[in-house]
Amino acid sequence: MAEPVLSLRDLRVTFPTPAGPARAVRGIDLDVMAGESVAVVGESGSGKSVTMLATLGLLPKAEVSGSVRYNDTELVGADVDTLRSVRGRRISMVFQDPMTSLNPVLTIGKQMALVMKAHQPELSKKDCRSKAVDLLHQVAIPQAARRIDAYPHELSGGMRQRVMIAMSIANDPEVLIADEPTTALDVTVQAQIMELLQTLRVEKNLALVLITHDLGVVAGSADRVAVMYAGRIVERSPVRDLFADPQHPYSRALLECLPRLDQKQEVVSSIGGTPPNPADLPTGCPFAPRCPMALPSCTQAEPTLVRFRTSEVACNIVSGGDRAEAQA
Ligand SMILES: Nc1ncnc2c1ncn2[C@@H]1O[C@H](COP(=O)(O)OP(=O)(O)OP(=O)(O)O)[C@@H](O)[C@H]1O
Ligand SMILES: [Mg+2]
Repeated sequence: MAEPVLSLRDLRVTFPTPAGPARAVRGIDLDVMAGESVAVVGESGSGKSVTMLATLGLLPKAEVSGSVRYNDTELVGADVDTLRSVRGRRISMVFQDPMTSLNPVLTIGKQMALVMKAHQPELSKKDCRSKAVDLLHQVAIPQAARRIDAYPHELSGGMRQRVMIAMSIANDPEVLIADEPTTALDVTVQAQIMELLQTLRVEKNLALVLITHDLGVVAGSADRVAVMYAGRIVERSPVRDLFADPQHPYSRALLECLPRLDQKQEVVSSIGGTPPNPADLPTGCPFAPRCPMALPSCTQAEPTLVRFRTSEVACNIVSGGDRAEAQA
């Protein structure tokens, strides 16, 4: 069987804070294969970005444990040279806000050349320029040969995000982590960017990790989905199964928040309550205080992921067979 390109095992991230240690990520296992698209979803603060920043060794002040393997290379505790050789080259990341991620005083072409030169110093100025034009073509930027000399502020939000994606694939990575790549964009542009990521995944056999708080984005663009809550994965399923039959009460609540085209809805619902503070987690299941199905036992022990049909679910009610009782 094929080996995953990226494999996270029991990844944990703790930040020292004045309120005590904030356990932002508490034991994540995740495998991504070449050519596969895995979505990580969850509300704000669930630990999605911290998981990925820790994966790339970008959290020097945090305590990080567990394992992150890129093929045969261990990244947790790796030296700076190893991390540099992987980051931006083998694994690259597209960040949420293309305006703050691009340098406002450099042209697009110059910034793309810097990214290429960092890992391919042998490229000449001319090579970089023609490769940059080619990359802008690949991400469907019209008049690429002209736009390459534009400054970020001369481009629309959607164009800037395309440039970020072009930069992220400039060094032919095997893994692309896209953290909320469409959040800042309007719906039509969102759809175009998602389509572009899918095309790149297929054409370049990329392992794509898509981070989003919006389950709507996931539906057409991922093979598998991991639902995160309070620093853990609470459900992992093939996307189709998650939409058809979500198991975890939190996944269900997230799905209920999606606007439905087939139903007249005056107001889109939201999940009641707020996610817990990672420096002050409740005992038992961290979702229990907000869970409409919670039983007294849910506040005693935190459930771990257990296989349930096509999914893995961390819920005492689902795995304990108490669902009927809870629904009664
Ligand atoms: N440097 C830090 N120091 C202390 N706590 C942090 C730090 N960075 C993140 N956190 C905390 O870690 C938790 C997870 O944050 P993270 O940014 O991963 O959330 P997220 O799931 O990406 O949310 P969003 O959808 O808003 O991007 C949050 O409670 C956040 O406040
Ligand atoms: Mg985030």
